[in-house]
This record gives sequence, structure tokens and C-alpha cells, in this order.
Amino acid sequence: MDSMTFVLFGATGDLAKRKIYPALYNLFLDRKLPQSFSVIGLGRRALGDEVFQGNVEQSLREFSRRSVFDPSDLSAFISAFRYVPLDVTNPDDYRKLLQVVEKREQELNIPQNRMFYLSVAPEFFDTISLNINESGLGTGSGWKRLIIEKPFGHDLQSAQELNEKLSKAFQEEEIYRIDHYLGKPMVQNLEALVFANPVIGALWNNRHIANVQITASETVGVEERAGYYDQSGAIRDMFQNHMLQVLMMAAMNRPSRLNATEIREQKRSVLASLRDLPKSEVAGSIVRGQYGAGVVGGKEVPAYRDEPGIGASSLNDTFVAARLWIDEPQWEGVPFYIRTGKRIGAKSTRVVVEFKNTARDLYMTRNESTTPNLLVIEIGPNERVSFFLNGKDALNDGQIGTLNVDYSANLSNVPEAYERLIHDALRGDSTFFAHWNEVELAWKWVQPVLEAFQENQVPLQFYPAGSNGPEAADKLLAENGFKWWLDE
Ligand code: BG6
Repeated sequence: MDSMTFVLFGATGDLAKRKIYPALYNLFLDRKLPQSFSVIGLGRRALGDEVFQGNVEQSLREFSRRSVFDPSDLSAFISAFRYVPLDVTNPDDYRKLLQVVEKREQELNIPQNRMFYLSVAPEFFDTISLNINESGLGTGSGWKRLIIEKPFGHDLQSAQELNEKLSKAFQEEEIYRIDHYLGKPMVQNLEALVFANPVIGALWNNRHIANVQITASETVGVEERAGYYDQSGAIRDMFQNHMLQVLMMAAMNRPSRLNATEIREQKRSVLASLRDLPKSEVAGSIVRGQYGAGVVGGKEVPAYRDEPGIGASSLNDTFVAARLWIDEPQWEGVPFYIRTGKRIGAKSTRVVVEFKNTARDLYMTRNESTTPNLLVIEIGPNERVSFFLNGKDALNDGQIGTLNVDYSANLSNVPEAYERLIHDALRGDSTFFAHWNEVELAWKWVQPVLEAFQENQVPLQFYPAGSNGPEAADKLLAENGFKWWLDE
């Protein structure tokens, strides 16, 4: 792997502490970082290198996946870190930064390969990329790459404007838009489950599949993010990015090769084939919910509107359910249902594929009922694949019952999403990053929904914390003769 300098904007922030430093450290222990590298942390605060290095060490002790610390590993890792105070709007600060970066490159005798990581508030994304370019930081003799966190825009127009500005400083191939769902092992595995298993691949179409259900439910509420979340809602926070990414991974056609270009092209094509949902029809296909007070995990929790920082009349969505159609022959007539919400009774991210129950009539002749076969791909909190089949139940007079073929990965100490994604970006592999084409199509689809919410055309349904969301989300499936599977 190429030697490089990792330039981190937002080095004193929460994400850096919880995810980025631990990810780099674990990559270092796995010998997945280049032989020579340096990390330059940037933040508004004035910190010396030693204090900064101490903070990094502290974050590893608190959040690293590996909890055993060999002093020589630790000091070799920490000694690569430097800190430069920087006001992101001040061009002089970028020139000072450039001097530090060049000095480190000379000290280590490494090429001018530079990875810029923006772990800062989105309003600074364009200013920073512009300054990287103008200061000369981005015009070294090696490669440059940009890792950028979500949210990528607030709606279609702001996303397009942001991309326009970024593209003045970075080529699309140099931009790595993080969607941490794409770093989850089971999301990545969707590709292999379908394309590495001809048995499943053969069933992956409307002849066999009745519907697909994608759920991401969380037990947490708004937490300390009122300012951000009340302006975003579940539709921007989860649906536009994570949920549509899972949809693309689940519904894409077979790529001709397994490389970033081909896979991302197949994913793009899923979104390009999503049937438009005009604003006037949003209310018929989308459920918008907000949690009321209730009990989650045995604890009483307040209503969203009573959370600190949230207005008493907020209409923000903490839950969204949607019915989508993919206008491709393979998926004709197969509804895809997506739902995501906060303060649901259980944390679960999963894809449930319901197959057509064509055996029903045969077994009815013996007064037995078969249930539809289900393929359940659990993305989190555990990684698991189960197949629900019908079989004779020896404990019940040989009557037909459910037989569960269950594979549960014991993934207690595998690389975290951030580790995988940072490693990929360092290697220049963009397969599991969101391409602009995907992001733009996702915003295009979501835009009428945002407007319909904004204009209050979709009734806000309240659901008690600890439930499975509003009943309207059940009706969405019932309208097509289906139900959500595996709700607790
Ligand atoms: C983040 C959202 O992107 O994903 C959060 O901003 C959400 O609101 C989180 O809680 C969920 O991620 P995970 O990995 O816990 O499913």
C-alpha cells in the first residue's frame, strides 16, 4: 500500500474519537497501514502534539475493538500523529498546514500522497475542499483523495450544489462518500449471497419472490442531536442514504465483473429504475411517524416533542415506511417495503425476502398450511442468515411446521465498518462508497417526499415508544396482502 499522509479535519470531534482513531489503530495492528505514514489532526482548538497524542491514546483505550495494548505498538502508532490548529475559513492556516505536511513527507521520505478526511459539519465541506485546492495541498506530486461524511446535501438542490463545488477540487474518482452501512459485513455480503450462490440467484426475481422488506429499527431516540435531527428526520438521516443503499445492494442485477465500476453501475441502475413517486401520490405510499412517550427496554422514555431541544409542535419524522417499485422486468409486481424508525421496541436491521407460497394449495388438500419461505438476512446487531422452510414436525404428528436453517456468524472481533471503509479508501477501492450518481438519484426520488412532508400532505402518525411504529405501516403491506415478518 502507498505511503501517505492522513489529514483529518475535525480531529477533536466525537467521530474521530469513537471511530476514526480506533479504526486506524486496528488497521495498524493488522499491518494494513502503509509502512510509513503520518496523521495530521486539525481542529479549532490550540493543542500541542503531545496533548493531542495523549487524547488519541485515550480514545483507543476507550473505543478500540482490541483492548490489549502493547506499549511498543502503541508508541509506534501514536508517534505518527501531529496536530495543527486550523480555522477552516482562513487560507493562511492551510498554507501553514501545507508546510507541516511537506515537512513530515520529507522526514519520512514518502511521496505526496494525501488522504483528506472531512469529519466536520457539512456546511464546511465546500470551503475546505476549495482551500485544499487553492493552498497547494491538493496539487502535490502524488495522489489525493477525499473522504467525506454524510449528510451529502439537505435536498436535491443543495446536494447538486455541493457536488458542483467539490468537483472543482476533486475528481469523482477521488471522492469517497462514506455510508457506514456499506461497511457492514452483511450489507457487503448481499452481493455474495445472491451472485455466489446459483441456488439463490435462480430465485432472485418476480417468479419466486413475493415481496422484499427492509427494516432498520432503533431503540434510541434523538439523543443529543436535536439540532441536526429535527431538521433532517428519518427520511434524510436514514432513508435517503442507508436504506436506499441496502435496497440497491439487494436488488441489483448481476454485474459482469466484481469491480467498483460494475457494481456501482448495477446499483445505479436500480435507482434509475425506481418508479417515480409524484408528490400527489406520496401519501399513498409513504408513512410518516413520530414517537410518543412509552417504554423501551423496560424504561419509560419521553415523547419526541418532549425531548431536550425539540419544539412542542415539531412535525419531524422519526419513522418512515415506504412502498417502492423497481420498473425492471425482473422485479415487475414485486413491492419493496422499507421502514426505519427510532424508539422502536428492538434494534434490528434486516432484509426479509418473502417467497411466493405456491405450495399452499397442495397442502390445503390435507388441511395443512404452509408458510411462505423466507430468506432473512440480519445485518445487525448480529450477522445472520436464515432460511425459513416448511417441513414435517416430528413432535407434532408429522404436521407441516417451520424448519429454520440458520447460519449465525460469530463476528465478535471482525473489523468494524470504519476500519473496512478507511482501508478500502487507502487502497483506492471505491466499491463500498456512494457514487455521486447514486446520491443524486436517491435525492431525486426522495425530493417529492420531502416536499410532501414539508407541505404537510402526509399525515403525521404518532406511535408509542417501544412499539413497531405506526399501524399505518402495517396497512401499507396489508393493502397488498402482506405483513411485516419477524416483528417482536
Ligand atoms: C447514522 C444516523 O447514520 O446511523 C443515526 O445518523 C443512526 O441517527 C445510525 O442512529 C444507525 O446506525 P447503526 O449502525 O447503529 O444501524
